[in-house]
Amino acid sequence: MHGHVGRQVSQLSCLVLAVEADGSEVLTVEGMAKDSQLHPIQEAFLKTGALQCGYCTPGMVISAKALLDENPNPTDREIRQAIAGNVCRCTGYTKIIAAIKEASAMMRATRE
Ligand code: FES
Repeated sequence: MHGHVGRQVSQLSCLVLAVEADGSEVLTVEGMAKDSQLHPIQEAFLKTGALQCGYCTPGMVISAKALLDENPNPTDREIRQAIAGNVCRCTGYTKIIAAIKEASAMMRATRE
């Protein structure tokens, strides 16, 4: 599963051989934080309790970033489509969708 985000390509890392990423910029969930400040998406996941074990969280956060970079104000349906490649067995998806909506609002507020 992959999608183009502007000049970015969002792709499930488990489907990419390391050699295929040669010469590409790779963004990980750890790389989203800047100067010890969490990215708004990471903040929103914490704020809304959208994680329990955290196993799915990196994929959810990166999928949310790809979505919000392309679509700053997604609908619930668009959020569900964007995270469809990730499975969470802990929280259900209600809090994850709430987190992405919260992140969307936080990111739009900083742009205004
Ligand atoms: S928080 Fe545990 S799988 Fe999603």
